[in-house]
Amino acid sequence: MVTLDITKASQFVGDAAINAFEGEVSKAQQALEDGTCPGNDFLGWMHLPSSITPEFISEINACAKTLQENCDAVVVAGIGGSYLGARMVIDALSNTFGWLQDSKYPRILFAGNNIGEDYLSELIGYLKGVRFGIINISKSGTTTETALTFRLLKTMCEEQRGKEEARKVIVAVTDAKRGAARTTADKEGYVSFVIPDNVGGRFSVLTPVGLLPIAVAGFDIAALVKGAREMEEQTSLEVPFRQNPAALYAATRNALYQSGKKIEILANYQPKLHNVGEWWKQLYGESEGKDGKGIFPASVDLTTDLHSMGQWIQDGERTIFETVLSVAQPNYELRVPADKENLDGLNFLAGKHVDEVNKMAELGTQLAHVDGGVPNIKFTIDRIDEYHIGQLIYMFEKGCGISGLLLKVNPFDQPGVEAYKKNMFALLGKPGYEKETESIKARL
Ligand code: PA5
Repeated sequence: MVTLDITKASQFVGDAAINAFEGEVSKAQQALEDGTCPGNDFLGWMHLPSSITPEFISEINACAKTLQENCDAVVVAGIGGSYLGARMVIDALSNTFGWLQDSKYPRILFAGNNIGEDYLSELIGYLKGVRFGIINISKSGTTTETALTFRLLKTMCEEQRGKEEARKVIVAVTDAKRGAARTTADKEGYVSFVIPDNVGGRFSVLTPVGLLPIAVAGFDIAALVKGAREMEEQTSLEVPFRQNPAALYAATRNALYQSGKKIEILANYQPKLHNVGEWWKQLYGESEGKDGKGIFPASVDLTTDLHSMGQWIQDGERTIFETVLSVAQPNYELRVPADKENLDGLNFLAGKHVDEVNKMAELGTQLAHVDGGVPNIKFTIDRIDEYHIGQLIYMFEKGCGISGLLLKVNPFDQPGVEAYKKNMFALLGKPGYEKETESIKARL
C-alpha cells in the first residue's frame, strides 16, 4: 500500500486551495483517459501495467536467464529514461553490499549515460577479465552517449567471445523499426525487445527497458508489475479525488507551486532509495520544466544530507516544499546493544530498533522543517520490495501526467533536450551540420 498524507502541506495553503483543483484534476484524468491532452501520442504508459501478459513476463525472464547463465556481469547501456528506472529498482531491491559478495546473478553495470573517457576506460579495464553481456537500450537508437558506449562494448565483447558467441549475450531494446540500434540488432541477429512507440523514455520502466535488466538482476518482475497494476486501479478515474494518491499529490504540489514554492525536494530515509530520487527528478523535471514553467525537482538522502543540505532546507530561501518517501517496515531487524560502560551515553537507546531511531529522526525533521516554513507531503510504503516499488512507480507516473496538465504544459515531450545535442554535433562536425558548425565556431 502507498499512503499519502498532505496535512502538513495543506496547513500552509489551506484545504480549499487544494480542493479547488478537483475539477481540473478530473478534466486532466479524463483527457489522459480519452487521449485528448497535449502529447496524446505518448500515453501508452497509462494502461501498460494491466496490459502486460504472463507470456510477456515469461519471454523477458527467458532472455534474462540466458544472460544469467552466460555472464558474470551485464552492462546496461542507456541514458535518461533508458536506464534510470532499472537503476532505481535494482538499487532499491539489492543488498547494498552485494557487489562485494559472490552472487548467483550477474553484476549489473550501467554505462552509456555519460561520455567520460575515464569512466569508460575503467569499465573496459574491469570487464577485461569478466564474462560480460550487453543490454543496449535506446528508443531513438541514435543517442550519442549510448551509441558510443555500445560501439566500444560490442567490439570488446566480440573480441572476448568471438562474433558468434557474442551474439548470444547482446540484447537490444529499441524501436520496432527506426534507428541505428534497430538496424544493428537486425543485421547482427541479436535478441531484441521493442519499446512501444507510444511510451516515452521516462515512462518506460515497465517496458523491457526496465523489466529486462531488473529480471537479469534476479528480481521478480511479475510482482513489480502486479504492484503497478493495482496502483493503476487505485488511481483510476472512478476513485474519488481525496482517495486517489496521484490526483491528490498533483493537486497539492500545484497549489504549493502557485503559492510561491518553486522547488520540491524528494527526501528518503533509506539509502537504497537514492535512485528513486534520480528517476523521479527526470520524470518530473523533463515532463514539467518547459514554457518558462515548472517546479524544480531536487532530491536528498536523509539523514545523511541533513549534515550538508539540512541548513539550507531549514533556513534558506523559503521557496521549497518537501515530499518524504517513508518506509513503514525495514526488511531486517537490528537492535541497539546495551553497553555496561555507556561511554557514548547511548544506553537510552539500548534495545530499540535502529529503525525506531531513524523514524524519530524522520518525525523530528518533518516537524522542524514545517516549523521552518517548509510544507511537507508524505508518502509511506509498507516495505521495500518489488510489489511496493511497482506501486510507487505507477503512482508517480500518473501524478506526473496529471500535474503537467494542471500546469498547462505538454508533459510528454522534451524539446529542450535537443539544444545541447545540436551544439555538440555542430562542434564535432557531424555530417549534415555544416551550417551550424560554421555559425557555432564564429561564437567561440
Ligand atoms: O525521457 C526521455 O525521453 C529521454 O530521457 C530519453 O529516455 C533519453 O534521452 C534517451 O533516449 P533514447 O532512449 O532514445 O536513447
